[in-house]
Amino acid sequence: MLYRSHVMVCGGTGCTSSDSDKVAERFTEEIKKAGLDKEVLVVRTGCFGLCELGPVVVVYPEGVFYSRVKPDYVPEIVEEHLLKGRPVKKYLYGESVTEREIKPLEETPFFRKQKRIALRNCGIINPEDIREAIAFDGYRALAKVLTQMTPKEVIEEVKKSGLRGRGGGGFPTGVKVVMDEDTCMVNVAKFFLEFTVDESCGKCAPCRIGTKRMLELLEKITSGKGEEGDIEKLEELAKTIKATALCGLGQTAPNPVLSTIRYFRDEYEAHIKEKKCPAGVCQALLRFYIDPDKCKGCGICAKNCPVNAISGKPRQPYVIDQDKCIKCGTCIEKCPFGAIYKK
Ligand code: SF4
Ligand code: SF4
Ligand code: SF4
Ligand code: FES
Repeated sequence: MLYRSHVMVCGGTGCTSSDSDKVAERFTEEIKKAGLDKEVLVVRTGCFGLCELGPVVVVYPEGVFYSRVKPDYVPEIVEEHLLKGRPVKKYLYGESVTEREIKPLEETPFFRKQKRIALRNCGIINPEDIREAIAFDGYRALAKVLTQMTPKEVIEEVKKSGLRGRGGGGFPTGVKVVMDEDTCMVNVAKFFLEFTVDESCGKCAPCRIGTKRMLELLEKITSGKGEEGDIEKLEELAKTIKATALCGLGQTAPNPVLSTIRYFRDEYEAHIKEKKCPAGVCQALLRFYIDPDKCKGCGICAKNCPVNAISGKPRQPYVIDQDKCIKCGTCIEKCPFGAIYKK
């Protein structure tokens, strides 16, 4: 439906704490009473950036800006402004009113020198309606990433942007985007749990003992000894530790395990049921193979294998003895023809 006017009532934290929700409710009531509810829409928006003047209300299409609005002001604003087209000057933000004109929000001294980038649509759209975000190109970058770019290109783009993390060392964001199809999510969960097991102070049993048991289960799975039921045991332990640990460390320690199980359960199952690591990370589950079509029979791999697991005749494809192979990876590095692969 098309509306002739939009009453944007700030729903940011500052304005909400000064009762902007009551202002919005009053607008809705008064607009209905005046029979304008098919013409004027009340919208809760994100923060306009002038929280100390809240509750903030901006009326479009004029863009005029009411500040420190109280619910009692609303009937007059509806009657005068929305019904008769005369903004109520006494309630408008002082800097936006001169003898001769009423300036829209973006032309007031506070906003005139600002160019909002990430927050440019705050105050303009309803942040709880995804269709409004899409109408303002909200998800265009995501669509481009998913349909036109490779993971490498995305990482390069993020690196070029110069974005940095806010906490701790402020590392470049592009450098932190490292997880891809070559990352084993079971191994990632194990990495985080090793950290929390080390950090646990030992005061309470769920964290001191429970996280160790979880780590043992993950070690069992990544070393190829996982069994049916291990995922369920991990989930049960994780939920119990979260609910019973004394402090934030224990309460959050199981999160990486729970979220990797939730989103990458198939990887856990591949480790347990097929004894395979889909990302080719867990050494114990890896097998090294020589592709007979690529092998030139040069023998370099055999000369470098530390356990003599490779054999063959010159100029014929070589083979790896899986029982002897200790999965050191030397042969992959040494083969000049890229004939050796792991999976
Ligand atoms: S949950 Fe907190 S208090 Fe309990 S052992 Fe872990 S670190 Fe210590
Ligand atoms: S180094 Fe490569 S090409 Fe040479 S024998 Fe080994 S697998 Fe074949
Ligand atoms: S991975 Fe290491 S042990 Fe296995 S065949 Fe290659 S060089 Fe030999
Ligand atoms: S919260 Fe309303 S202007 Fe910031």
